[in-house]
Order: sequence, then structure tokens, then C-alpha cells
Amino acid sequence: MGKSKKYQSVSDFNLDAQLLGFIFKGSGKVKSIRVATDRGVWAIKLEKSLRSELPALQPGDWVRVRGEKTIDFKKGKSKLKAWDILPLADVGKEPIASPAPKKAPVGKVLICQKSSCCKRGAKAVLGALENRIEESQLGDRVRIQKTGCLKGCKRGPNLVVVPDKTRYEKVTPEEAGNLVDRHFGTVSTEE
Ligand code: FES
Repeated sequence: MGKSKKYQSVSDFNLDAQLLGFIFKGSGKVKSIRVATDRGVWAIKLEKSLRSELPALQPGDWVRVRGEKTIDFKKGKSKLKAWDILPLADVGKEPIASPAPKKAPVGKVLICQKSSCCKRGAKAVLGALENRIEESQLGDRVRIQKTGCLKGCKRGPNLVVVPDKTRYEKVTPEEAGNLVDRHFGTVSTEE
């Protein structure tokens, strides 16, 4: 487990994925890799020591990538950094998933960040939404949009899920995670 700072969560990840290709630096060295799982496509930066020790790989190979995931709640972004990549054939594991991304609902969550909603916990709700979207790897399909007053300030925190246009009032952080599951159908994580 990594250490977390304020507004940041750092944890280890372990991912079996199909290699799509490499991203090079100006120097010609591999800086990052692109991989696909059944839940989407990811760019993973390589730790410096790994860049010169990368195993012989080709696009299409299945790999096991281990590293560190950093979620920045303030910016609503996350980064993956790999410290270890192994061809799956070397760890004796057959790929079990198709790399084709599953079709899933795409949408947005509009969340009011004006003072009345913030007094009632809208920042914590925003953090919970970002967290659940990140944990469920829905970042490429679900966006969060901070908005001005959505009316109904006394019943805040207020948010609206689109395209359904479903409105939620007095949302708690726990409910925020559940509504992401309900509207965007998260896929269970199997390690
Ligand atoms: S301040 Fe959030 S709805 Fe008005």
C-alpha cells in the first residue's frame, strides 16, 4: 500500500491486460504503454528503472502490470505508474478476458458546488463520486461537471445525472457511490 496525501489517494494495482502499443519520449525510450482490458483502455507510465529493463513485448501480448495508482481528488484525475511488467505466458496464466471494451452507458453527473450545497456536504459528495468513478474504472465514460446553483438550495447537496436528467436531493457520499452504480452499471473487479 502506498501513502496518501491530502486530496490524494495512492494504492497498489495489479492488472492483467493486452498490450496495445508504446508511447516514446523524445530520446526514443519508451515512456508509457497503452493497454486494454475488458473495462477500457489505459495509458500506464513506466517507472524510470523499468524503461531500460522492459521485457521483449509486442502489441497484442498479454501482460501482468503491477504498480501504483494515484487519484487526485482535487483535479478529478488519476495516474497509473508501473514498476513491474511480466508477459502473462511467463507467469503461467492464460488471458481470460476479451480486450474489447464492453458497451456501457455514457453520461455525466452535474453537481452543484455553490455555497448552500457546499454547506450541506457537496464537496464530500463530489469526492465520493470521483472516488467511485475511479474505483469502477468508469473515467472514460462518466464525467463529473461542477455547476452553479441548480435551484432547491435548501434541499442540497443537489445533483443531476444525464442523459436521464434524474435529479437527486440531499445526497450523502454513500448515496453518491450507489447512484453511479445504478446509472452507469459498474463492472465487478476480480483480481
Ligand atoms: S446552492 Fe446548490 S442548488 Fe442552490
